Amino acid sequence: MTTTEQTAAAAGASATEAFRASMQGSAADVPAERISAAARAVLDGVHSAIREHGLTYPEFQAAKQWLIEVGEAGEWPLFLDVFVEHAVEEVASKQWNGSQGTILGPYYLPDQPRLPASAALPMRAEEPGTPMVFTGQVRDVTGTPIAGAELDIWQADGAGDYSGFAAGVPDGNLRGVVVTGEDGRFEVRTMRPAPYQIPTDGPTGKLIAAADWHAWRPAHVHLIVRAEGHRPITTQLYFDDDKWLDSDVASATKPELVLSPSKQQDGSLRAEYDFELEPAR
Ligand code: DHB
Ligand code: FE
Repeated sequence: MTTTEQTAAAAGASATEAFRASMQGSAADVPAERISAAARAVLDGVHSAIREHGLTYPEFQAAKQWLIEVGEAGEWPLFLDVFVEHAVEEVASKQWNGSQGTILGPYYLPDQPRLPASAALPMRAEEPGTPMVFTGQVRDVTGTPIAGAELDIWQADGAGDYSGFAAGVPDGNLRGVVVTGEDGRFEVRTMRPAPYQIPTDGPTGKLIAAADWHAWRPAHVHLIVRAEGHRPITTQLYFDDDKWLDSDVASATKPELVLSPSKQQDGSLRAEYDFELEPAR
């Protein structure tokens, strides 16, 4: 097995474990009429696809086999977050004010170390990639700075790998909770992440290859921004020069979420972004 294969297999299974852990004690109580309406609509959609494209018995059996493989590989969180979550976020965000959010994705891990307003994310001594300073301010919707707001940050490294999911990346690498100072400001020292590729050797990657799609997400930094009395925002920030910005396989980019980093004399990058949180409801 090559290193890439180990990484891909580990990512799917670990994402399923992380999802199960995050769901403990939080089963949704959905009424029967709503389940019926949703399940009916999904099934109707499947039936329409079969009729519209004249799908055959061998194709139906191949689909069944693929669905079994996605579960066995633990790739349901990965598949659903890439191809479905953006629509859920679109519906939810219609009722929200404040800064734009986007999908959570499968690689969030809670309980990372709390760091001061000016801090470096935990990283290796020889962390590969281009150093980047990320600064900004957290405010409420009236423009008042929020002290003690948390920026829970996670990102892929310079090779596109996430700690906790890819083999060979130390636990906690490029993850941390930065807490804003009295003026609501933060300054985070990190590395520019590389674009992320959906593992190509698992069933999700097999579907993407078989359909002749590409498996890339533009490089991104994930954040959950929280402050007492405010609605937390789950979001991602992208880069204006990214090759995959307009064709994200997860359909999760928004024009409001694109950073334009400036290059410093020493070759490092500096990017700025402010967040606006609405009151909790
Ligand atoms: C997936 C991975 C990500 O890093 C992300 O931000 C969204 C989705 C995925 O593989 O499902
Ligand atoms: Fe991601």
